[in-house]
Amino acid sequence: MSTIVLRLGDITTDHEADAIVNAANERLLGGGGVDGAIHRAAGPGLLDECRTVGGCPTGEARITGAGRLPVRHVIHAVGPVWQGGDRGEPELLADCHRAALRIAAANRCRIVAFPAISTGVYGYPVQAAAEVAIGATRAALRELPDIEEVRFWLFDERAHAVFAAALDG
Ligand code: APR
Repeated sequence: MSTIVLRLGDITTDHEADAIVNAANERLLGGGGVDGAIHRAAGPGLLDECRTVGGCPTGEARITGAGRLPVRHVIHAVGPVWQGGDRGEPELLADCHRAALRIAAANRCRIVAFPAISTGVYGYPVQAAAEVAIGATRAALRELPDIEEVRFWLFDERAHAVFAAALDG
């Protein structure tokens, strides 16, 4: 039975996960936020590998190694930029969670760590994002029984409380 758990803090400190999901952009060439933190912790080799991937459309995900991070893989998921909510953002946010989990399962990852994709620079309201992320993850885990645990790393108390409410909903 797969479980979804929450963690408070920096996702790059997760040394138990098999894969850490990155909130990336379509260029896959790094950036700020969690993308910046992951690339800083992984080292320059991650960017070198990302350059060979050739980008990733919004709603999809791509897998690479993890450089110096204490996990096997980084899965770069590209969430939508919030544009008010009627431009397909919920579907694209769900899609990138499902895509990341399918890739994780295909690469025999048992424990997968996610950030709160799209809720920073991309402006997605945290509560709406939490409901989509938890719902999409629950649905994906029903078809991916080999994934034992998904953990969402929230970077502040407020986001953690919002995700906890969505998890109990
Ligand atoms: N660990 C966990 N969560 C983090 C960390 C971290 N080290 N750093 C930031 N966060 C949180 C933010 O507080 C936010 O809740 O990750 C969430 C996602 O925010 P962003 O990293 O800004 O990602 P996103 O909103 O998806 O925007 C993606 O930002 O950094 C650029 O290159 C990235 O262009 C892309 C865009």
